[in-house]
Amino acid sequence: MSVQSVSVQEEMLSELRQCWREKFGGEAELCAFAPGRVNLIGEHIDYSGGHVMPLAISLGTYGLARRREDKRLRFYSLNFRGIGILEMADGSLQNDPRDHWSNFCKAMLQTLREAGYSLEGGLDLMIYGNIPSGSGLSSSASVELLTGIVIKALWDLEIDSVQLSLLAQKAENQFIGVNCGIMDQFAVAMGRKDQVLLLNTGTLEYDYAPLKLEGCKLVICSSNKHRSLGNSAYNDCRRECEKALSDLQKRFKPLKALCQLSPDDFNALQSAIEDPICRQRARHAVYEEARTLAAFEALKGGNLGAFGRLMVSSHASLRDLYEVSCRELDFLVDAALEEKSCLGSRMTGAGFGGCTISLVREEGVTDFIDHIGPKYLAEFGYAADFYPVTACEGARVLAL
Ligand code: GLA
Repeated sequence: MSVQSVSVQEEMLSELRQCWREKFGGEAELCAFAPGRVNLIGEHIDYSGGHVMPLAISLGTYGLARRREDKRLRFYSLNFRGIGILEMADGSLQNDPRDHWSNFCKAMLQTLREAGYSLEGGLDLMIYGNIPSGSGLSSSASVELLTGIVIKALWDLEIDSVQLSLLAQKAENQFIGVNCGIMDQFAVAMGRKDQVLLLNTGTLEYDYAPLKLEGCKLVICSSNKHRSLGNSAYNDCRRECEKALSDLQKRFKPLKALCQLSPDDFNALQSAIEDPICRQRARHAVYEEARTLAAFEALKGGNLGAFGRLMVSSHASLRDLYEVSCRELDFLVDAALEEKSCLGSRMTGAGFGGCTISLVREEGVTDFIDHIGPKYLAEFGYAADFYPVTACEGARVLAL
């Protein structure tokens, strides 16, 4: 079990600079950071036109970069030192497992090119991240957006952060092959310090509200269970929602997305969905949408008790209706809710492993971690990690 301090920027940057001199030599032209994200509520509805409420967090990916005169690409990650420098000719880029993590960078380069941006020459990019990989805190979106803002700055591209996040999602969908929604890339690009984001994934309209957690903290707990089989199960959930939508459209043509339905409308129409599993998935989507809108109002109004209760019902729905939780996440949520200091807790992200997020009274955070950590270790034989988090600024260029 470990409690991570979030102010590690200087340490990581100085290691990165030193490594740059050793491995790449000469000077970097640019320094940048892209955060990870945690979703407060609005889970598994960003591909059903729903609202989501993510934060960019202080864990993320730092990068140093420079353009090259030749057409070569060189990538190095301090997180995978054993892999060494990944070097390739910048021709037509393809997803190649031998290129390991750098596929996320290649994906971004290629997607920007396909969008019509001409990127002459090559690139040296060195990264160092502190998002635990496979934790469901969007380490891949973080690397994609880091690459995106590095390229934008080095080639002086005219592209705003929303467009960049859409291209990052396209990179993930088409180049990497994960059929994700827009939440992660949008949150990583558009997060704001001390603000919570409310994004309508159907229209891309968005709003911010101050994250007023008077007397409380948000605590991420990583189950350290890797999201094995996550991608295929994720794609199954998407398909089940699409099937539910197409059944509903037979009865109600104008419907464009599941989350346009109110719970009452859904209850009136639900018998049109033939398959009971698809009906269950759709029920989650419709009610999660209502919970998310209510949660945004609760946070704006400082009603943390109501917000916490919505988190708890969101978890129950993801566990029972959407079936994307797992024993480890349920255990962490149950253990969190046994703590008097905890106002709400739920799994966050895609599920099948990964993290929970809990709202905990500040004075109870130490006990919260001290109680749950050993219980989890005793149950599963390996430790969970705890990260108190705040809302941070989205992907950005830093001083060199
Ligand atoms: C993953 C996907 C997102 C979203 C979440 C679940 O993080 O990348 O698009 O669907 O799962 O809310």
